[in-house]
Amino acid sequence: MSDLVIRRPDDWHLHLRDGAMLEGVIGDTSRHFARAIIMPNLVPPVVTTADADAYRERIVKAIPGGDRFEPLMTLYLTEHTEADDVARGKESGLITAVKLYPAGATTNSHGGVRDLDKVMPVLERMAKIGLPLCVHGEVTTPEVDIFDREAVFIETVLDPLRQRLPELKVTMEHVTTKDGIDYIRSSSGNLAGSITTHHLIINRNAILVGGIKPHYYCLPVAKRESHRLALRAAATSGDARFFLGTDSAPHVDPLKECACGCAGIYTSINTMSCLAHVFEEEGALDRLEAFASLNGPAWYGLAPNEETIRLIKRAEPVTFPAKIETGAGPVTVFDPMFPLYWDVA
Ligand code: DOR
Ligand code: ZN
Repeated sequence: MSDLVIRRPDDWHLHLRDGAMLEGVIGDTSRHFARAIIMPNLVPPVVTTADADAYRERIVKAIPGGDRFEPLMTLYLTEHTEADDVARGKESGLITAVKLYPAGATTNSHGGVRDLDKVMPVLERMAKIGLPLCVHGEVTTPEVDIFDREAVFIETVLDPLRQRLPELKVTMEHVTTKDGIDYIRSSSGNLAGSITTHHLIINRNAILVGGIKPHYYCLPVAKRESHRLALRAAATSGDARFFLGTDSAPHVDPLKECACGCAGIYTSINTMSCLAHVFEEEGALDRLEAFASLNGPAWYGLAPNEETIRLIKRAEPVTFPAKIETGAGPVTVFDPMFPLYWDVA
């Protein structure tokens, strides 16, 4: 197969940032994607529906003319979040999900949640009104090895929470382990998982072999090969509980290429080419549409996009810039380390 038409995809986990960075990156998403769930970890974070409303307006203003793109807004859960504000956000149609960052787990997560008990009233209200919780599933306990943080989170935080509140709809975001995949597969409902483009392509060797490669560093950190293979199997299986959330997370190069570099990989620009490559390798091109365009909307209770995109396999590799220039500075583009032949026509 060298020509594939699928419904226009959506990105169920995206960092657009703000200001000059937002303006520099949004076109790479709106070119191919119809909608995206927008992460709220700005500085300061998007905590209230008023914050989300204002941020949404800034995003809409930055969409390049001619592109149709709908940002789906989230709230950053804190121990001071008010259930009524969240409920109003959902009712008005502004808010698609609430994001749980365990405090200290990743970029700008220090205002996140330390004690789940403190947010139970909000979670109970969300369960009642059918508002999903998007979870960054890693514990931050210093004793836990960074490669085990997801597995330990499932056992000590996520599973207890789901038993306590089975009515709550939970998206386990950017699943990076076989443990996560197995946990989602074994659940009886109200649980789904997003998978990034880069975690389907790299394992932890990409970060560490032959020198430290900051542009492959993200959180949750890429794991060993057996986990990557489990992610590939899940993504390409057609199982409706798995869908695309790129977690494309731009940082300017100086903040990545330094003694303490930020976590985040920028994939918006070449995600569809990378995914077509992966699905072709797995003999699953016919299931790319489910992963990128159908399973996500079904989970979030939305209709799939009516428009389509066309992917064409070129005879020569398709090239992407090594970096994009934004008003905030240069951002390195994810290099999958193999040539890409699939092009969005
Ligand atoms: O790699 C990551 N980058 N993981 C996250 O969880 C946050 C993100 C960011 O905001 O840079
Ligand atoms: Zn993220």
